[in-house]
Amino acid sequence: MCGIIGYIGKKPAAPILLQGLRRLEYRGYDSAGMAISNGETIARIRSVGKIDSLSEKMKTVEIPGTVGIAHTRWATHGGVTEENAHPHTGCGGKLILVHNGIIENYRELKEVLSSSHVFTSETDSEVLAHLIEEHLKQEDLQQGVVALRKAVEKALAHVRGTYGIVVMHEAVPHCLVTVRMGSPIVIGFAEDENSHEHEYYIASDASPMLAYTKKVIFLEDGELSVLTREGMETFTLKDEQVQKHVEEIEWNDEQAEKQGFAHFMLKEIFDQPTVFEDAIRGRYDLAEGTAKLGGLNMTEEQMRQINRVIFIACGTASYAGMIGKYAFERLAGIPAEVEVASEFRYRDPIVDERTLVFVISQSGETADTLAALREAKRKGAFVRGIVNVIGSTIARETDGGTYIHAGPELAVASTKAYTNMAAVTILYALQFGRARRVSLATGHRMLQALVEIPKKMNQILVQTEHIERIAKKFASYQDMFFLGRGVNFPVALEGALKLKEISYIHAEAYPGGEMKHGPLALVSPEFPTVAIMTKDQLYEKMMSNIEEVKARKGPLLLIATEGDEKAKEISPDVIYVPETMELLQPLLNTIPLQLFAYFVAVELGRDVDRPRNLAKSVTVE
Ligand code: G6P
Repeated sequence: MCGIIGYIGKKPAAPILLQGLRRLEYRGYDSAGMAISNGETIARIRSVGKIDSLSEKMKTVEIPGTVGIAHTRWATHGGVTEENAHPHTGCGGKLILVHNGIIENYRELKEVLSSSHVFTSETDSEVLAHLIEEHLKQEDLQQGVVALRKAVEKALAHVRGTYGIVVMHEAVPHCLVTVRMGSPIVIGFAEDENSHEHEYYIASDASPMLAYTKKVIFLEDGELSVLTREGMETFTLKDEQVQKHVEEIEWNDEQAEKQGFAHFMLKEIFDQPTVFEDAIRGRYDLAEGTAKLGGLNMTEEQMRQINRVIFIACGTASYAGMIGKYAFERLAGIPAEVEVASEFRYRDPIVDERTLVFVISQSGETADTLAALREAKRKGAFVRGIVNVIGSTIARETDGGTYIHAGPELAVASTKAYTNMAAVTILYALQFGRARRVSLATGHRMLQALVEIPKKMNQILVQTEHIERIAKKFASYQDMFFLGRGVNFPVALEGALKLKEISYIHAEAYPGGEMKHGPLALVSPEFPTVAIMTKDQLYEKMMSNIEEVKARKGPLLLIATEGDEKAKEISPDVIYVPETMELLQPLLNTIPLQLFAYFVAVELGRDVDRPRNLAKSVTVE
């Protein structure tokens, strides 16, 4: 929620910040703004709407300077107005900052400050600017960088909540101060080719800096860095100096581009065969018929002790966890459940040292998922991460786990991260399964099938035009059901979620058998059903559910196994998918539903990559 960025170096800051904001736009797109220092004064520009509006506005004014900050907003406190857009200033307009997070005690702080400070927005963030200003005495400013740092430290001692901030001050022109408390801050650094002076990039994630550097440090909660062209120093908020460890980012800039696709979502759907290989590469042993995920970090004895598995996640990630649940129960014989993180964290959950908790998250920053992780750890469970963003908070706070290697995912609607999350949960299930009851032959067969998945994904992707035609036909409906049974129920849930989030069509998913307990009453020629009827042990049962819909004149879109002629007899609209082992079938079945949602949204003229009211990384409760 909200993306922040800062740059200090020798290059003009405006294009770097603007380009960086585009990369962070998935974090929010209600309004955007930036502030740049030319060494003497700071100019600010803000605009309501997406980054494109800011970009348009910037064509009319020049904002020179090589030090700056910028922000893209997902509104929490205060409506979507230019006044509420970041950066926010203190009273004189000299101290200016961007903020990602929520200041919980902002009302109290605002009340105290109001006697001597004039507020111009309804945001919680503006309070931070005034509070720092309050602690920055005019005479201290001669100390420059140190004064600004100390004022930030003193001010934050009064603040409750979460914040990732970048602060600058007109009187200390070549300096940025950044702090992390609950909202991610990555600092990338490079050297100017000519002058060899340092350049720094600060952002909510590493994607804006990939074009310039792969060397980054991740701030921890309660850490503050001061960046100047001469170097960087990091302190705790208690003023102790900290040595930071430099890490290399594997992702490259090209991966974060659309590469000729109309939208990031379409590109990311097409990335799936390739990144799927990245998810499984080196993580299995064909001869032994087992997975070998080193990040599990458990002894064989500990693995044997586990008597319960819980997947904790939000949104799409929770549906990937549901596939993991089926896989764990079937392969390892361990009772498994999925819990939405926002429920788990407040429920006094029953977990103990025999419980294995998998925390699944693309961003690795989702606030509810992170809180649930901490709760599970406190209760003594084994907690492992299944995460995409390298170095993210969830990745760092778990005692082990696996990166899903999906590469940067920028469309708000998750696609390739979902399939890779599901793949990793299946690998874990196989690893436990082989340690308990799965035979070598079954393990072997499963891995063979897993290796074949990318090829089969491609067989679906070549049907894009066919899927587009069907999507156009279905785009005029107001509502849709998605049905699946067994391991395809999570596929139905994911299909319905994709459709509603990007097309705004009302969609509901049900296990096929539930239709007769209520939802069937809604079926009519105006209320179509998307049904997953690939061949598995519940095929016949699913067929009955489909017939029930057909008998009530509900239009049907069927996802069926290649060669299944019955599907065509039931409905003119069929998408065929290749067959694989039942547990792996969701990895294929989801893809036509992603494409279906995509083309429906395109047909309706929606902003596919940036659906209304949503953000990709939900770092607030
Ligand atoms: C948001 C996104 C979803 C995502 C969910 C969990 O709601 O819009 O696409 O599935 O957060 O995000 P995570 O980064 O934890 O996977």
